[in-house]
Amino acid sequence: MIYLDYVSTTPLNSEVNKMYQSLLNNYFANSDSLYSLGIQTSRFMEQSRHLIAEMLNVKPTEIIFTSGASESNNMAIKGCAFQYQNRGKHIITTAIEHSSVYNTFVQLRDVFGFEVDFISVDQEGNLNLDELASKIRKDTILVSTMYVNNEIGVVNPIRKIKEIIEKCNPITKYHVDMVQALGKIPIDLSIVDLASFSAHKIYGLKGSGILYKKESTSLVPLINGGQQEEGMRGGTSNTATHTMFAKTLRLALENQDEKYQHVLSIHQYVRQELEKEEDIVINTPIKNFSPYILNFSCIGYKPEVLLHALEKMECYISTKSTCSSHKNDVSKTLAAMKLNDDIAKSALRISFSHLTTQEEIDEFLYHLHKILKSIKKQRG
Ligand SMILES: Cc1ncc(COP(=O)(O)O)c(C=O)c1O
Repeated sequence: MIYLDYVSTTPLNSEVNKMYQSLLNNYFANSDSLYSLGIQTSRFMEQSRHLIAEMLNVKPTEIIFTSGASESNNMAIKGCAFQYQNRGKHIITTAIEHSSVYNTFVQLRDVFGFEVDFISVDQEGNLNLDELASKIRKDTILVSTMYVNNEIGVVNPIRKIKEIIEKCNPITKYHVDMVQALGKIPIDLSIVDLASFSAHKIYGLKGSGILYKKESTSLVPLINGGQQEEGMRGGTSNTATHTMFAKTLRLALENQDEKYQHVLSIHQYVRQELEKEEDIVINTPIKNFSPYILNFSCIGYKPEVLLHALEKMECYISTKSTCSSHKNDVSKTLAAMKLNDDIAKSALRISFSHLTTQEEIDEFLYHLHKILKSIKKQRG
């Protein structure tokens, strides 16, 4: 099997898997129980929180455990909008966000009466920073941008964005979806108020995430209930899962630079090989990009046809963001980049890991080349 869809999800690290099973079997008590078994379970979860905080250089009280980045994004954006709505009802995001951010903004606009601006991008996916500066107003309470785009891999200049916010309205909160950045590029949480992360993108468990919330930022909780997560998220804690986040993160941060260099050389090799194919156009930019993602279009070919033909060869790739893969329209990111229709409609996404080998890549390229030729023959 050649798996090239690591942006969608990653295989579970075997060490994480082993320890998780042991926690499930041996530490099942409710972490809010007053007896020793519950206290021990809670201790493990709190230890995890402390370790995560240490690795991310923040305070343990600033880490909230969630069920994944979709929940973290919802919690951050709606929680912030509800909390600060008396200051203003204007919020800003970008045209290329993951659906869990984009649709949350749409809901805040359509159901809760907030005014939303979606900042545009250029043909390389770079955010229009002048437009952002011109949109921030006195009543803007929140700006949310992703760090690394999950479809084409463009990297947003979050430090620059923070400077713009600071200059235009210093009390506007800044949330960043850092899902595709974690374990891949350096992260500095001092410049943001809120940040979302997911474990299953870094070889951890599905249904596991965290939200970083700066001490000076308040949120209206979305799940009311008990005292768990400082009242931010009611419900019996998923302790084994939360405990595993620390180990998952430690493993992901280990040798981050070496892993990055390996992936970068693979990315450059694949890009160079794909550029030799006459019908292929690369959509991932050559500047400000994450090498973990490579988006390209096979012009004139239906992406689903190529995906399934590759699947028959046991090569697994994706057409666009997996969370929107059942819709028939073109990818939101490519549409926002205003690419030609024939490019936008024929896009494929491959994504790499430090586990990806040269042999896998050569085999994938071989199959893709053969498939493109055979489909062409069929068409002709
Ligand atoms: C950029 C980005 N944000 C958010 C998410 C959602 O993460 P999760 O699956 O943990 O809800 C994903 C994953 O699909 C993503 O790529």
